[in-house]
Amino acid sequence: MDTWSRGTKQSQTNPNKAKTNPILAQKTTQRTQFKPKQTQFRAKCTPCGFFLFFTFLCPGYNLPMQTWTIQRLLNWMTDYYTEKGIDAPRLNAELLLSHILAMERIELYTHFDKIVTKEQLDILHDLVKRAGQHEPICYLTGKTEFYSLRLQISPDCMIPRPETELLVERAIEFLRTRTGPQFVCDLCTGCGCIAVAIAKNSPDAKIIATDICADALNIAAKNIENHDLKDRITLLCGDLFEPIVPQLDVEKFDLIVCNPPYVSASEFEKLDKCVKDYEPRLALFAGDDGLDVYRRIIDKADQFLRPDGALILEIGYAQGAAIKELLEKTGAFAGIKIEKDFHNNDRIATALKQLTRPGL
Ligand SMILES: C[S@@+](CC[C@H](N)C(=O)[O-])C[C@H]1O[C@@H](n2cnc3c(N)ncnc32)[C@H](O)[C@@H]1O
Repeated sequence: MDTWSRGTKQSQTNPNKAKTNPILAQKTTQRTQFKPKQTQFRAKCTPCGFFLFFTFLCPGYNLPMQTWTIQRLLNWMTDYYTEKGIDAPRLNAELLLSHILAMERIELYTHFDKIVTKEQLDILHDLVKRAGQHEPICYLTGKTEFYSLRLQISPDCMIPRPETELLVERAIEFLRTRTGPQFVCDLCTGCGCIAVAIAKNSPDAKIIATDICADALNIAAKNIENHDLKDRITLLCGDLFEPIVPQLDVEKFDLIVCNPPYVSASEFEKLDKCVKDYEPRLALFAGDDGLDVYRRIIDKADQFLRPDGALILEIGYAQGAAIKELLEKTGAFAGIKIEKDFHNNDRIATALKQLTRPGL
């Protein structure tokens, strides 16, 4: 598509299709001003081609805008994303269009005939193109949802995944078994999704959240403020536990949670383009076997836990056995459990600090 010249784009319109399509029928009358080169009428003519051409790429696109209703745009965008191999094309079309129009997704369906203005189409033009190149929609809209909470997001943070909600679930369950104030540490917080979700659902929890990336923490700060949690979540910038040490006049933690980077070197090469090219490498890659960050967390965690505290980690889909072994080797934990997610992949490791350690 990008390699088409204006002339060839013009020449690829299909007159028969135009007769049966009211949008195209209306617009074919305007094509003549672009000097179509009939000799180049060879390439396959797709609906998406029409869409991009008439809506966005046409140099004189002061076309009758009343033809671009929400319903038609949604259909065109869905076709375009399908052609580009984008996941969940309809959902992504809805997310982008509702963002541009500042509407809820459901409102798109109650305003199907609403006409989209030229200004709105101008903005959509750029974003549709970028989404077609596999840039994640969350980065284009700057927002996402996690544990039913609206969060801001930027390319400095990894996009929170539904699998991570299982970690939040286990953390909330653990905290419900305690009474009084609870101290929680969220390492590698990124946009703060885990800390915010725990704080929202565990009213007695106070949380310290750390990340080595200051730009990610700026987004976490916005999410904390938007959810009115400034007095319950403290952000610290630095390497894992390192920024916490000077703060340890607070008592040790009841719970440490972490979703660290865990992608191995060989997996990194095979990641989808939308992940590998757009999400921060710092949030993904963790050495040759993907266990580098776990080794460092597991080595130190018990020093930061209360005697009856717990460590809950998100882990990679096949890392269960290796993480269990790392936890067992410390001799510091009991009740080590590896849990699978809804795709039957290893996903959560839970370990309780041993009250009495053998040989001590
Ligand atoms: C997999 S992301 C998780 C983000 C968020 N907690 C979530 O669940 O979506 C990992 C995060 O760890 C951070 N990180 C990587 N190495 C780190 C380190 N040594 N110390 C602290 N944070 C680190 C990255 O900046 C990134 O935000």
